[in-house]
Amino acid sequence: MIPEKHFAVAVDGPSGAGKSTLAKAIAAKLGILYVDTGAIYRTIGYAVKRRGIEPRDEAAVRAILPELEIGMRYEADGEQHMLLNGQDVTREIRLPEISMYASAVSALPAVRAFLLEMQRDLARKHSVIMDGRDIGTVVLPDAEVKIFLTASAEVRAQRRCLELEQRGTPKPYDEVLRELNERDYNDSHRAAAPLRAAEDAMVVDTSALDFDASREALLALIREKLQ
Ligand code: DC
Repeated sequence: MIPEKHFAVAVDGPSGAGKSTLAKAIAAKLGILYVDTGAIYRTIGYAVKRRGIEPRDEAAVRAILPELEIGMRYEADGEQHMLLNGQDVTREIRLPEISMYASAVSALPAVRAFLLEMQRDLARKHSVIMDGRDIGTVVLPDAEVKIFLTASAEVRAQRRCLELEQRGTPKPYDEVLRELNERDYNDSHRAAAPLRAAEDAMVVDTSALDFDASREALLALIREKLQ
């Protein structure tokens, strides 16, 4: 059983490792809040694209940050809706071209600083399972449970293809794999909060596990840590 106390589960890892689907299912099971931090970076990426700003231009991106009101709303089904200056952009931020914008703006220290407090505040107010790239290392270094979720690039690209197909925006596998490798490289080689496993994170490779097996493996690890 999970004790009735306040706790945080940090889930980091590369894109397509299954972080969001698994974290969402675990949040529902444990009755805690699921926070998808990638969606927050995507919202900034979307705002930057809409304004026609070059996402690597830190001065230009920094200049618009004070104008961005980023909001989150949870629907009854546990879906995390993203609001940008009052507009629901949940669907728009999932468009494939926003991934690169999100990855580019997420490398900017000004953007990371802008979002840090927002993420910590959520974890102060609620027990959370928060997924991202730097949750266990930077955002919630004191999280009770830290998981680094990974899978081979090929398996992750296959999963991404399936997801894009289901969303009605299919893309060829080779292109998905190339973009995924490029994004992994950007996310792991940036100076600001690069993607890496925290020293005290438990590494879980889901390459050979299906969804149910991955969820059960994570739940077992979380329960063990929280005992
Ligand atoms: O998880 P995702 O693919 O929706 O994330 C979009 C981008 O945002 C990803 O390329 C890296 C970045 N990101 C980050 O730098 N830090 C986080 N905590 C979450 C996402």
